[in-house]
Amino acid sequence: MCSMRNLCHRMQHREPRRIFVVTAHLSVDYGDHYGAITLELFFGNPARYREAEILRNLVRRQPGYWSLGRVNSMNSVNQLVDWLQSFDERVDLDELKAKLDDDSISAELLADHIHFSDEHYSRNLLAHGPQFYALVLCWKPGQASPIHDHKGASCGVRVIEGVATETSFRWQAGRLVEDSVTSMHAGEVCGSFDDDIHEIRNNGEGNLVTLHIYSPYLDNINLYDRDTGAMTVFSDPMVASLSSTGS
Ligand SMILES: [Fe+2]
Repeated sequence: MCSMRNLCHRMQHREPRRIFVVTAHLSVDYGDHYGAITLELFFGNPARYREAEILRNLVRRQPGYWSLGRVNSMNSVNQLVDWLQSFDERVDLDELKAKLDDDSISAELLADHIHFSDEHYSRNLLAHGPQFYALVLCWKPGQASPIHDHKGASCGVRVIEGVATETSFRWQAGRLVEDSVTSMHAGEVCGSFDDDIHEIRNNGEGNLVTLHIYSPYLDNINLYDRDTGAMTVFSDPMVASLSSTGS
Protein backbone atom coordinates (compact mmCIF):
# COMPACT_ATOMS: atom_id res chain seq x y z
CA MET A 1 0.00 0.00 0.00
CA CYS A 2 1.58 3.25 -0.98
CA SER A 3 0.91 6.78 0.01
CA MET A 4 2.14 9.97 -1.52
CA ARG A 5 3.47 12.11 1.29
CA ASN A 6 4.07 15.13 -0.74
CA LEU A 7 3.20 16.43 -4.15
CA CYS A 8 4.11 19.86 -5.29
CA HIS A 9 4.28 21.27 -8.71
CA ARG A 10 5.07 24.33 -10.67
CA MET A 11 3.57 25.19 -13.96
CA GLN A 12 4.72 27.30 -16.77
CA HIS A 13 2.82 28.31 -19.84
CA ARG A 14 4.67 28.06 -23.11
CA GLU A 15 3.45 29.97 -26.11
CA PRO A 16 2.42 29.52 -28.81
CA ARG A 17 1.46 25.86 -28.44
CA ARG A 18 -0.33 26.38 -25.13
CA ILE A 19 1.37 23.37 -23.63
CA PHE A 20 1.65 23.31 -19.86
CA VAL A 21 4.70 21.79 -18.29
CA VAL A 22 4.39 20.48 -14.76
CA THR A 23 7.36 19.48 -12.70
CA ALA A 24 6.14 17.27 -9.90
CA HIS A 25 8.26 16.34 -6.91
CA LEU A 26 6.92 13.16 -5.43
CA SER A 27 7.84 11.51 -2.18
CA VAL A 28 6.44 8.03 -2.09
CA ASP A 29 6.24 5.64 0.85
CA TYR A 30 6.04 1.96 -0.01
CA GLY A 31 6.42 0.72 3.55
CA ASP A 32 10.02 -0.37 3.72
CA HIS A 33 10.83 1.47 0.49
CA TYR A 34 11.01 5.21 0.48
CA GLY A 35 12.32 7.66 -2.00
CA ALA A 36 11.71 10.77 -3.99
CA ILE A 37 11.37 11.29 -7.66
CA THR A 38 11.04 14.28 -9.90
CA LEU A 39 8.85 14.05 -12.94
CA GLU A 40 8.17 16.51 -15.66
CA LEU A 41 4.65 16.02 -16.90
CA PHE A 42 2.96 17.83 -19.68
CA PHE A 43 -0.49 18.07 -21.04
CA GLY A 44 -2.02 20.11 -23.78
CA ASN A 45 -5.67 19.17 -23.76
CA PRO A 46 -8.47 19.46 -21.26
CA ALA A 47 -8.67 15.73 -20.68
CA ARG A 48 -5.14 15.76 -19.23
CA TYR A 49 -4.81 12.20 -20.39
CA ARG A 50 -1.08 11.95 -19.97
CA GLU A 51 -1.10 13.35 -16.47
CA ALA A 52 -3.78 10.89 -15.46
CA GLU A 53 -1.94 8.00 -17.10
CA ILE A 54 1.31 8.74 -15.33
CA LEU A 55 -0.29 9.17 -11.96
CA ARG A 56 -2.28 5.99 -12.45
CA ASN A 57 0.89 4.11 -13.24
CA LEU A 58 2.64 5.64 -10.28
CA VAL A 59 0.19 4.44 -7.69
CA ARG A 60 -0.21 1.08 -9.39
CA ARG A 61 3.44 0.21 -9.54
CA GLN A 62 5.43 -1.60 -6.89
CA PRO A 63 8.95 -0.49 -5.94
CA GLY A 64 10.74 -0.01 -9.18
CA TYR A 65 8.61 2.91 -10.16
CA TRP A 66 11.80 4.93 -10.57
CA SER A 67 11.74 4.23 -14.28
CA LEU A 68 8.81 6.58 -14.54
CA GLY A 69 11.38 9.33 -14.53
CA ARG A 70 11.86 8.64 -18.22
CA VAL A 71 8.47 10.13 -18.99
CA ASN A 72 9.67 13.65 -19.03
CA SER A 73 9.91 15.11 -22.46
CA MET A 74 7.69 17.51 -24.30
CA ASN A 75 8.55 16.49 -27.82
CA SER A 76 6.74 16.29 -31.12
CA VAL A 77 5.69 12.67 -30.57
CA ASN A 78 4.10 13.45 -27.24
CA GLN A 79 2.41 16.49 -28.71
CA LEU A 80 1.06 14.34 -31.53
CA VAL A 81 -0.32 11.83 -29.02
CA ASP A 82 -1.94 14.59 -26.98
CA TRP A 83 -3.54 15.96 -30.11
CA LEU A 84 -4.94 12.53 -30.93
CA GLN A 85 -6.29 12.16 -27.41
CA SER A 86 -8.44 15.24 -27.92
CA PHE A 87 -10.68 13.53 -30.50
CA ASP A 88 -13.98 11.92 -29.60
CA GLU A 89 -14.62 10.83 -33.16
CA ARG A 90 -12.69 9.50 -36.14
CA VAL A 91 -9.77 11.72 -37.15
CA ASP A 92 -9.92 12.99 -40.72
CA LEU A 93 -7.23 11.39 -42.86
CA ASP A 94 -5.97 14.67 -44.32
CA GLU A 95 -5.60 16.11 -40.83
CA LEU A 96 -3.76 13.00 -39.77
CA LYS A 97 -1.35 13.21 -42.69
CA ALA A 98 -0.73 16.90 -42.05
CA LYS A 99 0.21 16.15 -38.44
CA LEU A 100 2.53 13.36 -39.49
CA ASP A 101 4.26 15.69 -41.93
CA ASP A 102 6.59 16.88 -39.20
CA ASP A 103 10.31 16.35 -39.62
CA SER A 104 10.90 16.48 -35.89
CA ILE A 105 9.18 13.08 -35.55
CA SER A 106 12.36 11.04 -35.53
CA ALA A 107 13.70 7.56 -34.87
CA GLU A 108 15.39 8.95 -31.81
CA LEU A 109 12.07 9.98 -30.26
CA LEU A 110 10.57 6.59 -31.09
CA ALA A 111 13.62 4.57 -30.02
CA ASP A 112 11.89 2.87 -27.10
CA HIS A 113 9.36 1.38 -29.52
CA ILE A 114 11.70 0.19 -32.26
CA HIS A 115 12.06 -3.58 -32.02
CA PHE A 116 12.55 -5.97 -34.92
CA SER A 117 11.65 -9.60 -35.34
CA ASP A 118 13.37 -12.15 -37.54
CA GLU A 119 10.05 -13.87 -38.19
CA HIS A 120 7.88 -11.06 -39.53
CA TYR A 121 7.45 -7.32 -39.35
CA SER A 122 6.82 -6.24 -35.77
CA ARG A 123 4.05 -3.99 -34.48
CA ASN A 124 4.97 -1.98 -31.40
CA LEU A 125 2.31 -0.01 -29.57
CA LEU A 126 3.25 3.64 -29.11
CA ALA A 127 0.00 5.00 -27.68
CA HIS A 128 -3.75 4.60 -27.81
CA GLY A 129 -6.85 6.52 -26.88
CA PRO A 130 -10.58 6.51 -27.40
CA GLN A 131 -10.40 7.10 -31.14
CA PHE A 132 -6.92 6.00 -32.21
CA TYR A 133 -3.93 3.83 -31.72
CA ALA A 134 -0.41 4.46 -32.92
CA LEU A 135 2.05 1.74 -33.84
CA VAL A 136 5.73 1.75 -34.69
CA LEU A 137 6.21 -0.93 -37.33
CA CYS A 138 9.66 -2.40 -37.84
CA TRP A 139 10.52 -4.30 -40.99
CA LYS A 140 13.65 -6.24 -41.82
CA PRO A 141 14.56 -6.58 -45.49
CA GLY A 142 11.98 -8.66 -47.35
CA GLN A 143 9.27 -8.43 -44.69
CA ALA A 144 5.83 -7.35 -45.86
CA SER A 145 2.29 -6.79 -44.66
CA PRO A 146 -0.56 -8.88 -46.00
CA ILE A 147 -2.68 -7.27 -48.69
CA HIS A 148 -5.44 -5.55 -46.74
CA ASP A 149 -8.09 -2.86 -46.72
CA HIS A 150 -8.91 -0.27 -44.03
CA LYS A 151 -12.57 -0.76 -43.34
CA GLY A 152 -14.01 2.12 -41.34
CA ALA A 153 -10.70 3.72 -40.43
CA SER A 154 -8.22 6.38 -41.44
CA CYS A 155 -4.60 5.27 -41.52
CA GLY A 156 -1.72 7.73 -41.73
CA VAL A 157 1.83 6.49 -42.22
CA ARG A 158 5.15 8.27 -41.87
CA VAL A 159 8.38 6.60 -42.96
CA ILE A 160 10.88 7.06 -40.14
CA GLU A 161 13.89 5.15 -41.49
CA GLY A 162 14.55 3.16 -44.64
CA VAL A 163 12.45 2.84 -47.78
CA ALA A 164 8.87 1.54 -47.82
CA THR A 165 7.35 0.12 -50.97
CA GLU A 166 3.59 0.55 -51.11
CA THR A 167 1.65 -1.46 -53.68
CA SER A 168 -1.95 -0.36 -54.21
CA PHE A 169 -4.54 -2.72 -55.67
CA ARG A 170 -7.90 -2.33 -57.38
CA TRP A 171 -10.59 -4.68 -58.58
CA GLN A 172 -10.82 -5.41 -62.28
CA ALA A 173 -13.28 -7.88 -63.68
CA GLY A 174 -13.51 -9.57 -60.32
CA ARG A 175 -9.76 -9.90 -59.97
CA LEU A 176 -7.38 -8.02 -57.72
CA VAL A 177 -4.74 -6.26 -59.82
CA GLU A 178 -1.85 -3.97 -58.99
CA ASP A 179 -2.73 -0.33 -59.48
CA SER A 180 0.50 1.41 -58.51
CA VAL A 181 3.82 0.81 -56.79
CA THR A 182 5.35 3.68 -54.82
CA SER A 183 8.67 3.93 -53.02
CA MET A 184 8.54 6.14 -49.94
CA HIS A 185 11.67 7.39 -48.25
CA ALA A 186 12.27 8.63 -44.72
CA GLY A 187 10.15 11.69 -44.04
CA GLU A 188 7.44 10.85 -46.57
CA VAL A 189 3.82 10.48 -45.48
CA CYS A 190 0.96 8.55 -47.04
CA GLY A 191 -2.55 7.64 -46.08
CA SER A 192 -5.22 5.02 -46.68
CA PHE A 193 -8.82 4.66 -45.62
CA ASP A 194 -11.90 2.52 -45.91
CA ASP A 195 -11.83 0.57 -49.18
CA ASP A 196 -8.21 1.34 -50.08
CA ILE A 197 -6.38 -1.94 -50.60
CA HIS A 198 -2.62 -2.07 -50.32
CA GLU A 199 0.46 -3.86 -49.15
CA ILE A 200 3.58 -2.36 -47.57
CA ARG A 201 6.90 -4.09 -48.01
CA ASN A 202 10.55 -3.53 -47.19
CA ASN A 203 12.22 -4.11 -50.53
CA GLY A 204 15.39 -2.36 -49.40
CA GLU A 205 18.63 -3.78 -48.14
CA GLY A 206 18.38 -1.99 -44.80
CA ASN A 207 15.82 -1.97 -42.04
CA LEU A 208 12.59 -0.02 -42.34
CA VAL A 209 10.73 1.80 -39.56
CA THR A 210 7.29 3.34 -40.09
CA LEU A 211 4.86 5.13 -37.78
CA HIS A 212 1.19 4.25 -38.30
CA ILE A 213 -1.79 6.00 -36.77
CA TYR A 214 -5.20 4.40 -37.07
CA SER A 215 -8.44 6.19 -36.25
CA PRO A 216 -10.62 4.68 -35.00
CA TYR A 217 -9.29 1.22 -34.16
CA LEU A 218 -8.77 -0.85 -37.28
CA ASP A 219 -10.32 -4.22 -36.67
CA ASN A 220 -11.97 -6.96 -38.66
CA ILE A 221 -10.17 -5.83 -41.77
CA ASN A 222 -10.17 -7.86 -44.94
CA LEU A 223 -7.03 -9.65 -46.06
CA TYR A 224 -6.71 -10.71 -49.68
CA ASP A 225 -4.86 -13.49 -51.41
CA ARG A 226 -2.59 -12.02 -54.08
CA ASP A 227 -3.30 -14.70 -56.64
CA THR A 228 -6.97 -15.50 -56.16
CA GLY A 229 -8.29 -12.34 -54.47
CA ALA A 230 -9.91 -14.58 -51.88
CA MET A 231 -10.79 -12.63 -48.76
CA THR A 232 -10.39 -13.51 -45.10
CA VAL A 233 -11.33 -11.36 -42.12
CA PHE A 234 -8.59 -10.57 -39.62
CA SER A 235 -9.59 -9.83 -36.05
CA ASP A 236 -6.63 -8.11 -34.46
CA PRO A 237 -5.83 -9.37 -30.92
CA MET A 238 -4.09 -6.07 -30.19
CA VAL A 239 -7.30 -4.17 -30.84
CA ALA A 240 -9.20 -6.61 -28.62
CA SER A 241 -6.65 -6.00 -25.89
CA LEU A 242 -6.88 -2.22 -26.17
CA SER A 243 -10.65 -2.29 -26.26
CA SER A 244 -10.82 -4.36 -23.10
CA THR A 245 -8.41 -2.14 -21.17
CA GLY A 246 -9.98 1.10 -22.38
CA SER A 247 -8.02 4.27 -22.96
FE1 LIG B 1 -2.61 -0.36 -44.42
